[in-house]
Amino acid sequence: MNILLIGSGGREHAIAWKLSQNENIKNIFCAPGNGGTAKENKCQNVDIKVTDFDRLIQFAKENDIYMTVVGPEDPLALGIVDRFESEGLKIFGPNKMAAKIEASKAFCKEIMVSANIPTAFYGEFTDFESAKKYVLEKGAPIVVKADGLAAGKGVTVAATVEEAIDALKEIFIDKIFGDAGNKVVIEEFLKGEEASFLAFTDGITVVPMVSSQDHKPVYDNDKGPNTGGMGAYSPAPVMTEKLYNFALNKIAYPLVEELKKRNIVYKGIIYAGLMIDGEDVKVLEFNCRFGDPETQPLLMRLESDLLEIFDACINQNLKEIKINWYSEPTVCVVMASGGYPKDYKKGYEITGIDSAEQLGNVKVFHAGTKLENEKVLTNGGRVLAVTARGKDLKSTIKLAYSAVEKINFKDMHFRKDIAQKALRRL
Ligand code: AMP
Ligand code: GLY
Repeated sequence: MNILLIGSGGREHAIAWKLSQNENIKNIFCAPGNGGTAKENKCQNVDIKVTDFDRLIQFAKENDIYMTVVGPEDPLALGIVDRFESEGLKIFGPNKMAAKIEASKAFCKEIMVSANIPTAFYGEFTDFESAKKYVLEKGAPIVVKADGLAAGKGVTVAATVEEAIDALKEIFIDKIFGDAGNKVVIEEFLKGEEASFLAFTDGITVVPMVSSQDHKPVYDNDKGPNTGGMGAYSPAPVMTEKLYNFALNKIAYPLVEELKKRNIVYKGIIYAGLMIDGEDVKVLEFNCRFGDPETQPLLMRLESDLLEIFDACINQNLKEIKINWYSEPTVCVVMASGGYPKDYKKGYEITGIDSAEQLGNVKVFHAGTKLENEKVLTNGGRVLAVTARGKDLKSTIKLAYSAVEKINFKDMHFRKDIAQKALRRL
């Protein structure tokens, strides 16, 4: 069997690594992939952009692809699943209408309100003056969100009214997000601790993954600007059993049901970004795909075969399969380029990956890397996701950081406190 995997991040390397463990899979083609997928067992990169649907379809037809798996949100939002399905090709991920839960924050809020899913109060605006008026009325702190996809940069958590108005100016007047900023959602600031709730769904049944937590701000103790995620771990003790059941029954199922009422069958991954304040849970956002870096520690805990799960989602028989997880915790530390999340340089040689993995129970997932003349070079902001599995959280954190210590590249930086929040709760 051959698989076509779309994307180039740490998330996609983790999916490729997990799929490669299925004996029936012979080849995994990664479009465009990264330095890690270039070297992974059974994997090879193909130089096709994630949004070049014509070439991806042609490739799938010419290479006897059993299933195409989509990592990132952009191709999903542009309707890659609809295109592949109309060609009779099997593909894992939500269709264009379903992907709108991530591609439009206004649509996402409307769905949540209709389905009674707890979320922050909000207003929706299409012009600067009325948005500004709302901010002045509500006061700070307040959160400004560009409606469309903005590569994770569309949200401003404004501590002051001025900051919120500046964000509105950038969106409506400077048009920094282009059409993604034609509409804005302004919402109530929520306090608490964030957690990621991810689940598989076939549009009928929802099967949650184990819990996880991302670390969005760039510096220790959640200081500095937000990034795509500087590290993650699983399980997240902030997600008590009660909250986990609430997330399944009062958030994920109502989402799938509400979409069904609108004739949208959601197949794929549901990712709910949650804000937890004691017993109170609210949804910050829905994503229509695996999280990055949450996928790295999650898939390292997945015992079951991933292809079987993807097939069950597509064939709508998720209810019939059993998904098993290892009980041991996992911790993932992201190593980033100097300057990230702002400007950074690329092309520095990375050393020590093999010695990190030789520690055992460590997998170094690549994100922004490329392979050139047998050398692994930095090629993005988030470079590596060093992931460890151990017998308890404390020793797993230690193992992950021992692995990080073996790795070196110019100007690298990483957070030193990944999973400390969990440790404080144990
Ligand atoms: P989003 O893309 O909507 O998840 O927002 C990105 C990040 O902004 C979240 O992970 C939170 O850290 C923060 N954020 C979003 N909405 C809120 C809110 N209503 N209150 C506080 N923080 C928020
Ligand atoms: N880890 C955040 C995201 O994948 O959106």
